Amino acid sequence: MCGIIGYIGTKQALPILLEGLRRLEYRGYDSAGVALVAPDPLGGEASGSKIFTERAAGKVSELENKFIDNNLPGLIGIGHTRWATHGAPKEENAHPHGDCENNIAVVHNGIIENYQELKNELAARGHKFRSETDTEVIAHLLEDEPKELSLEKKLMNILPRLVGTYGLAVIDKNDSKKIVVARLGSPLVIGIRGSEFFIASDPSAFISQTREVLYLDDGEVAALSPQGIEIIEKGISKNKQSELLEWSAEKIEKQGYPHFMLKEINEQPKVIEDTIRGRLEEKDGLAHLGGLKEAEEKLRKIEKIIIVGCGSALYSGKIGEYIIEEYAGIPVECEYASEFRYRKPVLDDSTAVLAVSQSGETADTLAAIREAKRKGVLTLGMVNAVGSTIARETDAGIYNHAGPEIGVASTKAFISQVAAFALITLFLGRQRQMSAVTGVRIAEELKTLPEKISQIFSQKEQIESIAEKYAKFSNFLYLGRKYNAPIALEGALKLKEISYIHAEGYPAGEMKHGPIALLDKNFPVVAIAPKDSVYEKMKSAIEEAKARQAPVLALTTEGNNEMENLADDIIYIPKTLEMLTPILSIIPLQLFAYYIAVSKGYDPDRPRNLAKSVTVE
Ligand code: M6R
Repeated sequence: MCGIIGYIGTKQALPILLEGLRRLEYRGYDSAGVALVAPDPLGGEASGSKIFTERAAGKVSELENKFIDNNLPGLIGIGHTRWATHGAPKEENAHPHGDCENNIAVVHNGIIENYQELKNELAARGHKFRSETDTEVIAHLLEDEPKELSLEKKLMNILPRLVGTYGLAVIDKNDSKKIVVARLGSPLVIGIRGSEFFIASDPSAFISQTREVLYLDDGEVAALSPQGIEIIEKGISKNKQSELLEWSAEKIEKQGYPHFMLKEINEQPKVIEDTIRGRLEEKDGLAHLGGLKEAEEKLRKIEKIIIVGCGSALYSGKIGEYIIEEYAGIPVECEYASEFRYRKPVLDDSTAVLAVSQSGETADTLAAIREAKRKGVLTLGMVNAVGSTIARETDAGIYNHAGPEIGVASTKAFISQVAAFALITLFLGRQRQMSAVTGVRIAEELKTLPEKISQIFSQKEQIESIAEKYAKFSNFLYLGRKYNAPIALEGALKLKEISYIHAEGYPAGEMKHGPIALLDKNFPVVAIAPKDSVYEKMKSAIEEAKARQAPVLALTTEGNNEMENLADDIIYIPKTLEMLTPILSIIPLQLFAYYIAVSKGYDPDRPRNLAKSVTVE
């Protein structure tokens, strides 16, 4: 997804912008660019400032190559990584975009829905467009504003004309000592280091420079200049407190791993520790969730929970649905956030809507929460990115504490979501009929999981060679039941995302209702079959697959030797409570997908066509 970086201060902006762009690469993009505003070196004293723009299709390295003999000077600049929405991924469509005279440069995340109408109107007035993007209309609208107005005034005048979403930053040669930014539906954060300011769509872009941040809210405009930051809402200046981020630059480096995805898979024992740290009272089997404190009394009375999310977040929600219903006795529905926003769900005072999101910025999930708020129900968030929009807009919530997740394929955020659902189950269950004995059992077992995940890592080499053996197949069917049915979906999603192999996940009971028709010796089955209450059912599914000559890779519990007679290949996971098995069973599937992608020569951190954070609908 598109990324924004900007800098204004006392240092040369270009190296800071390029570093920011490199840090934004993980979000997924297809072109990049920068623009700086600086005194015109050829124009002499009187000629004033000039906008210098450079853009390139492809990687940030392509853009950097353009500066080998041509360094752009200047202390103020903006940069962008673009993920194509309107117009092909080529240089002309890369941001920043300018007006006819190149007096203004704009970078923009989001979508201007009425851009065609605005473009027609501007073209009729003589404006010349150089790209196919929706963003370019912003520069031309600004161009038509009176020259003597400040840049923030010009921007505030034109924003009401834009229908859609934006996080945007603008520089102007006629008001050359500032960057002006605005936000509506697409995140923007300001970084502060004394009198130097950074802007970004995501703080990881400038985390190596500062951890002091100020998040913009929808409807706010900010002007950053050597005089400071002015935040404006509805034309009136307002005060806003900055905050300190916990993440460090070191946390978002690869630390010797070949890929962020492998690093993040390996961090998972620590992630479980961080997710549960300080939240479990083992002796009484209780979970303390500070973020739910304010909603505690309301939560005692709720009679239904709707969990919304997308992709992996949705699948973690499906596990949440099963365990909350079983252990807390509250009816739960888990659904696609993208569907919830357009349905007419029946909601009342006794319903809570819980949004799950690693980034806290996913457009569909955010829209679902806003829809729920509009209907007056309690909204909750389970979010990893601290200070993100979903975290700020929900009534109460729980942070995952998984740390920054850079790999596009979610791994550590997913297992921290499942662990957080176990905490929520404990919290809600102990408010209701769950016994202390059950609570203690869950709390104790949660604490053993980091060690059990590490035990799975001792089979890495074996998983790698199994992955190499299966890399030749073009189709896979993943099967699981009960708590592991969502793991079948998540395992298949991991494989297709990063290795581009077609994979389907199904609850095993559904196999005979259709997918079994696909099976033959070239269509392997990955069966998630721990020794649990549905093990016998999974065994039948494996036998049915084998009867169709499908190669079977099974995941089962250590000590279950019977599987050797059923499956072609086996990966063992340690024994745990049945409700917590997904936290262990997903680990080998993440590694399996990773090793297949690497053996096929793909970069698992930057899968084609995918973005880390999907901030458009
Ligand atoms: O940031 P979010 O958790 O809201 O993102 C939701 C999905 O876009 C995300 O989980 C996506 O499916 C991942 N690529 C999965 O690996």
